[in-house]
Amino acid sequence: MTENCRINYSADALGDLRESYNYIANELLAPENAAAQVKRIRKKARSLASMPERYVLVEWEPWHSMEVTIGDMIMDNVGRKKQGLPYCYDDPALLGDQHIYQNKMCEYNLTLPTETEKRQNLLKEVFAEIGDGCTVETPLNANWGCKHVHLGRGVYLNSNVTFVDDEHIFIGDNCLIAPNVVFSTSGHPILPILREHHYVYNLPIHVGKNVWIGSGAQIMPGITIGDNSVIGAGSVVTNDIPANVVAYGVPCKVIREIGDKDREFYYKNRKLDVWE
Ligand SMILES: CC(C)(COP(=O)(O)OP(=O)(O)OC[C@H]1O[C@@H](n2cnc3c(N)ncnc32)[C@H](O)[C@@H]1OP(=O)(O)O)[C@@H](O)C(=O)NCCC(=O)NCCS
Repeated sequence: MTENCRINYSADALGDLRESYNYIANELLAPENAAAQVKRIRKKARSLASMPERYVLVEWEPWHSMEVTIGDMIMDNVGRKKQGLPYCYDDPALLGDQHIYQNKMCEYNLTLPTETEKRQNLLKEVFAEIGDGCTVETPLNANWGCKHVHLGRGVYLNSNVTFVDDEHIFIGDNCLIAPNVVFSTSGHPILPILREHHYVYNLPIHVGKNVWIGSGAQIMPGITIGDNSVIGAGSVVTNDIPANVVAYGVPCKVIREIGDKDREFYYKNRKLDVWE
């Protein structure tokens, strides 16, 4: 694998960077110099007006190349985050009241199970929205303190549920979320230099009504799970799951529809004796 990086600037990109509009440069640089150069270009580009057609092509020969639109980079990180584009997570403009939200969640985690009224009041402050009759066991974990988590009515969150709630997470009425379930709205680009430069992207998660998610399941960014479905323990949900199915596995697949069998039997063919 060649260690050198080639940076091709488009003529337009160079226009403002080098005060000449009709100039194309190819530079062969060591990766650390290329990274520094891209950083420099990005910094300069931020001070320019929006120019979506301008780009910098960075090639790590021979295994990949990356085209970076300077126009995208000019959009600030707040704008990029909103659009689901990769953004730099350490931009102070994005931090807002994150620590205050986390403090509130920690306050909730320090309550006792018997402090029911205090708990209910705190939950209203902790979550973006919370319907009546929700129960939330501790510890509860979220990097935005659940400020982007919306719970319907009668939701049960068992202990140690984690919300990576950089984006919004919607959980419908009467959902049951087992211990150690993780909802991740975030991911990092696979391209190594972008992770080195602290890029992340966020996509919202939607869980319908009356969904049961088994213990330790992992829900990936952008996933939707339909009403009434059951996600088996330990599943990694990488694709949307429709309504009214049992799905499990790594990656999580639809195994069957919920149907007549479930009116007669529960766990491992035990006979049901209740129907409503
Ligand atoms: C998915 C689940 C609901 C069972 O659904 P089901 O349709 O009744 O499935 P069955 O129990 O009849 O099992 C059918 C097959 O799927 C397999 N299976 C069941 N759950 C599985 C899972 N989570 N991952 C992988 N395979 C699973 C079983 O081993 C069985 O295969 P086998 O016949 O080769 O042994 C259950 O296994 C589960 O994951 N429950 C979550 C429990 C939990 O997290 N509780 C926490 C407190 S809420």
